[in-house]
Order: sequence, then structure tokens, then C-alpha cells
Amino acid sequence: MPSRRELVRCAVVGVAVATALGAGAIAWSSTLLGEYSVMDMGSGEGHAGHGGAGHGSGGPVGGGGSEASAPPGLLSVTALTASDRPADVRVELVARQGTVEVPGGRAVEGYTVNGTSPGPELRATQGDLVEVEFVNESVTEGATLHWHGIDVPNAADGVAGITQDAVPVGGRHVYRFEATDAGTYWYHSHQVSHEQVVGGLLGAIVIEPATASTAGATTTRSSVDVTALLHVYGGQHTLNGAVADERVAAAPGSAVRVRVINTDQGTAAVWSGAPFRVVATDGHEVTRPGEVDGQRLLIPAGGRADVTVVAPARGAARLHVGGARSILIGDVAESEASPPPVRQPTETLDLLAYGAPAQLAFDPESPDRSYEYVIARRFGIIDGRPGNFWTINGRMFPDVPMFAVTEGDVVVMHLRNDSGDVHPMHLHGHHVVVLSRDGVAASGSPWVVDSLDVHPGESYDVAFVADNPGIWSDHCHTLPHAVDGLIAHLMYEGVTTPFTINGDAGNRPE
Ligand code: C2O
Ligand code: CU
Repeated sequence: MPSRRELVRCAVVGVAVATALGAGAIAWSSTLLGEYSVMDMGSGEGHAGHGGAGHGSGGPVGGGGSEASAPPGLLSVTALTASDRPADVRVELVARQGTVEVPGGRAVEGYTVNGTSPGPELRATQGDLVEVEFVNESVTEGATLHWHGIDVPNAADGVAGITQDAVPVGGRHVYRFEATDAGTYWYHSHQVSHEQVVGGLLGAIVIEPATASTAGATTTRSSVDVTALLHVYGGQHTLNGAVADERVAAAPGSAVRVRVINTDQGTAAVWSGAPFRVVATDGHEVTRPGEVDGQRLLIPAGGRADVTVVAPARGAARLHVGGARSILIGDVAESEASPPPVRQPTETLDLLAYGAPAQLAFDPESPDRSYEYVIARRFGIIDGRPGNFWTINGRMFPDVPMFAVTEGDVVVMHLRNDSGDVHPMHLHGHHVVVLSRDGVAASGSPWVVDSLDVHPGESYDVAFVADNPGIWSDHCHTLPHAVDGLIAHLMYEGVTTPFTINGDAGNRPE
């Protein structure tokens, strides 16, 4: 069995490097990363079973990845799979590297899924067993699919180097998961994601409710249901892949559900000259959502919001999505019926106090674990590359905290941003409920998210139940931040991974 190279750490007292950074002769600690296992990351957060960074005798590292079996008493991520019952929805998705046509704009170099970017929208019904056969036809660095926001079993999470090896050119990988929670989600590569996601290796997935819901208890049922996937291709702001606005025909008085998906690297704004309602955040229904009027809704990078717009008695309503595009809803046959664009409101809808309170499914009052996730930044060197890197709890990648949990734990996470830049924090495999912001308790509908913007100077307390065993990334979804070290992991006790980062399989999840 090929042996794992241990993390090689060295202190660099480099006047040359210091000068290159223009910061005088200061010593930075530096880490050169060879092949490493996520099992060896982290320290000081009660991470059971392993000694932290530089500890060389942890779980097994098999060259063949999935062929390796876990040591006695430990469960491999590869064993954390969905039921093996037959699939209800079966799709083949083929990734290619090359030219992406952008209707209404200019073509860019990037990535496609089944020939387009975004790839096909997948639709399933709550309770379906979804099976996706992923084929990498020509993505030279390898690729995977991650199901952003869907609490899949860990083996299907699609993170290269943690839950699988990157799928090489000519390779295939099957993802299987149960569509347990209805809602709006998306899929994207989690291999070299700061290039592949930006370049378009992504698409939408919608899980429809098993029984037609009343759309967050709004008085109007949405008869029309459309997706608004936002992405920037080489500086071009697109809606569902095109540099163009969309028109959605709807009868006067009927509600249209618009599923806005922000696949970009920054926050997206949604607003309208007419009132709208936010009926779901990150796939979770809002309880009794009120009318939003004269405010904008902000959606973090990676986040989704479902909004309903009622078609007016005459003409159309304009919903601005993402700053540059809009959707016209109503009688869209006559273009003169289109209302003109309205200026983006400066006031932002506060989801901390939106909708009506409801009982949480668990009690966050006396959590089994509570962790800090404090984001800052400082100069340093990662993998021989100097830079102004993000830190978590004062420590730099890969010496960042490992958040250890036991199945069934109620976990409270205190997020704080001391870094001067907004960070859309994304936890895989779980949804968190926001308890408070800057000490102010949530007072509206349970605000349930998987992607949460934490602005400079802000702090949030969020809580979740550790009910999905595995090893899960917890990172910033502005992906260039993740590659610069803004990534930590949630680790269930007793779970191990045979996969490694930077080894022969070339896994580079960020
Ligand atoms: Cu949308 Cu770690 O990913
Ligand atoms: Cu960030």
C-alpha cells in the first residue's frame, strides 16, 4: 500500500519572501502540502481519534481509494450510501471542457453538462430515489458533482479527496440519494471548484413536494413555477444561461413561483416595483411570509430563494434578478405592457424577522457541542504560495479547526467575521437554523439555510442537528476564498476516508 506523505511543515524566515510581500523582515509560518488526508487536518476542537495536523498515523490511505477498507471500528465514507432500492429518476450527465455558447452574448471557454451551461435542470419528486450517472468526457483536471443544499448521504457528496476521487477523463461515477426535502437546489463540480464552477460546470435541481403544498401558506397557490439560475460567464450576467430577460405568461391574479439560484461568487439582489413574497430560503419553506415592498432580497453566493410574484390585472410585473436581468410576469404578449426597470432599493429585507415564528424540530437551548468559527486574515504562505490568507479561529489552512460531532448531537456554531469581506458560509450535508445575529434573537419564521452571508463585523449563532454521518466541508462559497484557506470540516466520530488530496488521483476539491 503506498504510504502517505506526512504534512511537511517548515518555518520560513525568508527576507526575500518578506520583501516580496513588501512587509519587512517578518517570519511567517508556512506549510508545504504534499499528499494529505482531511483526517489529519485540524486540532484543538476535541477532534477524537486523531492528533491533528502533522499526525502521521491516522486512518488508512489506500492508493486505490475506494478499494481501501476502513480499520476496525471505523466507518468509511464510501459506506455511507442511500438505500439500494431501484431508482425513480435516472439521468446521465456528461461533463465536457470547451466552448460555452452564451445566447445573446459571446461564447466563453469553460465547461458544459450535456452540451450546455447550465446543464439540464433535474426535477424529482420528494421521496424519489435519484440516480445520476456522471461521465467525464473531457475535463482534463477531473471533475465531480456535488448536490448543493441537498442533504445527501456522505458517499454521494461529490467532494474530490474526501468522499470520492475526482472522475478522470473517460471515467464515470454514480451518485444515488433520496430526495427527502422538497426545494430548490443546484449541482456543481467539487474538483478545482474555483475554476470549474466559475466556468459553468453546474445546473439546477428542483425537488417538488410529494403533496402539492400551499407555497409557504401564502393565500395564492403558484400555478406557474420557473427557475432563475444566475451565473456570470466572463463578465456577462446571465439568466438561465442567456444574456437576456425572460417572459413568463400568467393569468391576472395568479402567483408565479420563481426559484432564484445564485451560482455566482458574490451576493445577488432580487427586487421589484410590485410586492412579492419570499416563500422559501435554501429549499426550506418560510412560515407565513409577508409582502415585501420597497425592499430588496439578498441571496448569498450558493444560496437560493423562492419568491412568488402575482401577475397584475393588466400588463406584467417585473422582477429584477441579480442586478442585470429581469423576469416579466403576466400578460407578456404586448411588449408595451412591460413596466420599466425600477431602481434597486437600498433597504434590505431582514430574514431574521420575516414571517411567523414556528416550533423548531429540535431544542438548541442546551447544545451538546458548541463551536466558534471566527474568520480573519493575515499574511502567510500556503503550499509555497505567499498571500494574505483567511484564518479560522486564528489558524491558517490546513491547521484549521476540525469540528467533531457524534450522531444525534445538537450543535451550535458561533460564526464571526473579523475579516473585512463578506463570506457566504456553506455547510455540506445539513441545514442550519439562524438563532441570532449580533446578539439579536431571530423573531420571524425559522430561517433555515445552507448558505449564509456573514458580513464584516457581524456574528451569527446557528444551530443544527448532527443527523447525517460523514465528513462534511464547511466553507466559504466565494470559491476563490475557499481555495485561499476558508474551509474547515465537520467530522463525525467513527468515520474515516480512504481518499486524499494532492495524491495520485489529483484531488483538489477547492
Ligand atoms: Cu456548493 Cu462545497 O459547495
Ligand atoms: Cu469568503
